[in-house]
Amino acid sequence: MSDTAIVGGSWPMSVRSPGKFIVFGEHAVVHGAPELLVAIDLHLQVGVATAPEFQLNREPMARSANPYLARGLERFWPSGAPVAITTSSRIPRAAGLGSSAAFVAALGAAFGSASGGVARDALAQSSFEVERGAQGAGSPGDTSAVVAGGCVALNSPSGTLLWETTVGDARWTVRRVSDPRWVWVVAYSGLPRSTATAVQRVGHRLAEPDGPELLQRFREVATAGIGAWIREERTEVGRLMQENQRLLAEVGVSNPRLEALISAVAPVAEGAKITGAGCGGSIAVLPQPGREAEAVRRLARAGAVALAVRPSTRGVDVVGSG
Ligand code: MEV
Repeated sequence: MSDTAIVGGSWPMSVRSPGKFIVFGEHAVVHGAPELLVAIDLHLQVGVATAPEFQLNREPMARSANPYLARGLERFWPSGAPVAITTSSRIPRAAGLGSSAAFVAALGAAFGSASGGVARDALAQSSFEVERGAQGAGSPGDTSAVVAGGCVALNSPSGTLLWETTVGDARWTVRRVSDPRWVWVVAYSGLPRSTATAVQRVGHRLAEPDGPELLQRFREVATAGIGAWIREERTEVGRLMQENQRLLAEVGVSNPRLEALISAVAPVAEGAKITGAGCGGSIAVLPQPGREAEAVRRLARAGAVALAVRPSTRGVDVVGSG
């Protein structure tokens, strides 16, 4: 279902996109390593309608304040006819849970649908270019996950090929992998973060003499993790998440607040780690079976916004048109 195209529609239109979390491989994926992501049932909704002047949430639109919007309109709506855009979202912003990818993909789906429809591989490519242009760095992981829905693996030999995404000489494969149907917990630390700054920090760290060896360890953990995921080895997935977290700390994107959240949930978790850029943002937790509510309680007591989430099988799509 999620691999089908976004079909043609007309204004006013409503589009819904899932958010995402990352099980293995953030940061290293920017440098070509494997990554595993899950689209989740926290959604962002965008409405688009014709209007006499450009509006965002019923105010005159200030594009310069939002580079994702500015670049999205430039790319997806070259006709430039005025439109009114409304947004509502349950995905915390700048929290590592895919809010900017969801926003960009929803814009692309809305304008692609109004222009006669758009294939998902093309939407994944253009959404990535817009997101990367707006933030100045990054991989197509987040945009691929929200466009495809479900569980996706980048740069992995396992799974069914969905598409390839490129920028310059860099190329990432995106594959569909099965969903073991576990319930997850995500917890936002309350510290917003900048993806570009964190990606830059890791880039510098990986340029040090031991960088190639570190990147190789990221690769090994993600490759083993994706294998364990496909075999539905829950305990092993959790153990490898912990190992991935140690590597993320080594490249400088963990901090005491995130480590405190990870410690708070550890007694009821198979594994817990940063999801996304780190330096703030959120953690993703694989709870022990049946301990989801307790994981949420522990994280809330530690001051996080904690939510139990499930994979969203549906990627970005038009939910109302005409
Ligand atoms: C951000 O969610 C994940 C990073 O790997 C950046 C990216 O892949 O675009 C840190």
